[in-house]
Amino acid sequence: MNQYFNNNENLKSEIRVLNYSYGEYNFIFNSDLGVFSRDKLDLGSRTLIETYFACGKKNLKVLDVGCGYGFIGISLAKIMNAKVDMVDVNKRAIHLCKMNLKANKVVANVFESDVYDNIIDKYDLIITNPPIKAGKKVYMRFINEAFDHLTEKGELWFVMRTNHGVKTVYKTLKETKIAQILCKNKGFYVICCKIGWHQSLKLLEF
Ligand SMILES: C[S@@+](CC[C@H](N)C(=O)[O-])C[C@H]1O[C@@H](n2cnc3c(N)ncnc32)[C@H](O)[C@@H]1O
Repeated sequence: MNQYFNNNENLKSEIRVLNYSYGEYNFIFNSDLGVFSRDKLDLGSRTLIETYFACGKKNLKVLDVGCGYGFIGISLAKIMNAKVDMVDVNKRAIHLCKMNLKANKVVANVFESDVYDNIIDKYDLIITNPPIKAGKKVYMRFINEAFDHLTEKGELWFVMRTNHGVKTVYKTLKETKIAQILCKNKGFYVICCKIGWHQSLKLLEF
């Protein structure tokens, strides 16, 4: 079965244009068959970015991992003046994301990467709506490996649903990290997580 994270060169194209407004900002997003949330902007992603707009920091260096057609990264670049890199494994999503950058007059880097495999920089913020349908092994990489790509004070923000086990993920993160639930909306939890002070201190050797 064709999933939103599989590449299928034979899939026909039926571009659809989705609109999004936040305050004075208006966006258009081209979407297509074979990508996540083709018919409407995802409520989880929307809850995530609107929580970030309400209480996140501006002017950060950001990685949107699993960017799809660019809803999260493009909105953050424009509204929060973020310097954004966006990655996905789905070539069609990458193509749409590039179209959407142009359509919204936003500049950002978009490239293919299997989770963090092609990531070399460190980021102040990694933000994601991880691909639950890709299976636990994949979506937990989005969360657990984020800490290798964050600056010392960097934060991971993600959204996940209660019926996808977010409470367990949150509890496990809290065992070794500073984690906080920032928003609950119709079963979606927005979680912010960072490395604790004791983990960021380096061992001094005299
Ligand atoms: C839940 S969707 C979110 C898409 C987009 N960020 C949004 O909010 O509309 C997850 C995305 O992760 C991508 N994805 C799945 N497996 C991946 C992997 N191994 N590496 C990178 N991206 C992946 C999918 O193609 C999909 O675009």
